[in-house]
Amino acid sequence: MQDLEALKSELTAAIDGAGDLDALEAVRVAALGRKGSVTGLMKTLGQLDADERKAAGRAFNALKDEIAEALEARRTALSASGLDARLAEEKIDVTLPVRPERRGCVHPISQTIDEVIAIFGEMGFTVAEGPDIEEDWYNFTALNIPQDHPARQEHDTFYINAEKEGRRMVLRTHTSPVQIRTMQSQKPPIRIIVPGRTYRSDHDATHSPMFHQVEGLVVDETSHMGHLKGCLMEFCRAFFGIDDLPVRFRPSYFPFTEPSAEVDIGCTREGGGLKIGAGDDWLEILGSGMVNPAVLENCGIDSAKYQGFAFGMGVERLAMLKYGIPDLRTFYDSDIRWLKHFGFAPLDVPSLLGRTVG
Ligand code: PHE
Repeated sequence: MQDLEALKSELTAAIDGAGDLDALEAVRVAALGRKGSVTGLMKTLGQLDADERKAAGRAFNALKDEIAEALEARRTALSASGLDARLAEEKIDVTLPVRPERRGCVHPISQTIDEVIAIFGEMGFTVAEGPDIEEDWYNFTALNIPQDHPARQEHDTFYINAEKEGRRMVLRTHTSPVQIRTMQSQKPPIRIIVPGRTYRSDHDATHSPMFHQVEGLVVDETSHMGHLKGCLMEFCRAFFGIDDLPVRFRPSYFPFTEPSAEVDIGCTREGGGLKIGAGDDWLEILGSGMVNPAVLENCGIDSAKYQGFAFGMGVERLAMLKYGIPDLRTFYDSDIRWLKHFGFAPLDVPSLLGRTVG
């Protein structure tokens, strides 16, 4: 019979020497597996006589238990150190500063839209949205721009092959169709602003085929031209951060508003550069007017009871004026150097209370 003590120390040494869980498993199989050394001992019991068998059986079982215990202890130790090793290897130092060359920032268009939303949000407006691919009826007809209206030509519309009710779909030429969608889906009082992309087939130094607008719409029983003026003057002054910014309302024409006014802000071009504020010159920044009763009726709103005002502004133009960005086309170049220069820190969230630009 094999020396049990020798076998035990041999196996114990193998268990202690196992460097990882795979090696330990190999030791287990070699000892306790079907053809293992300890299992083999058990098979010899049959050749012994009754007395010997009893004593030997007890000794073999004790050895088996000791080896199983040692295996389990080693397994626990190896698992723990395996985890420790992985944790050490995969450690990330979250206190390291962000790699400066990787820092992202907020595009001036996004920043400007956020600023506009913050200002109108304080006045009680909520944000509404609509689709970029629009039906002819929403983009034109419902806004009192019928089929043969000259304003249709002015819009340099992109037409899509798809049709709706016999008319080709369009890339919306302004955010005004969302006025219609909102008046159809909500009951007055309505107070919304609509930031979004708009499209016109026009491409030169001052026009891009895709640009952004923010639309505004108020419909209730009492809002009048005085509210329109007060609201937009307050917006201009808050947006540019100039409390006494001159704001001028100039009569204009839009099919969907009556009367209509374009809004200019004071500026000066003295000394070459453009400076916003009191001066002898004016810059147009907004279109506006009282909602045309015909438009209310197109949306099923009783124009004898309800009235309101609407306005629309170009986001790129606002951003260029506020942040001194000279060329419209650079907005869409995706030039990381430009973005670094004109972009905004992600946490520089606009609010009326903490205005950063004066
Ligand atoms: N939709 C007009 C444009 O794109 C702007 C506007 C909106 C004017 C709402 C009046 C009222 O030029």
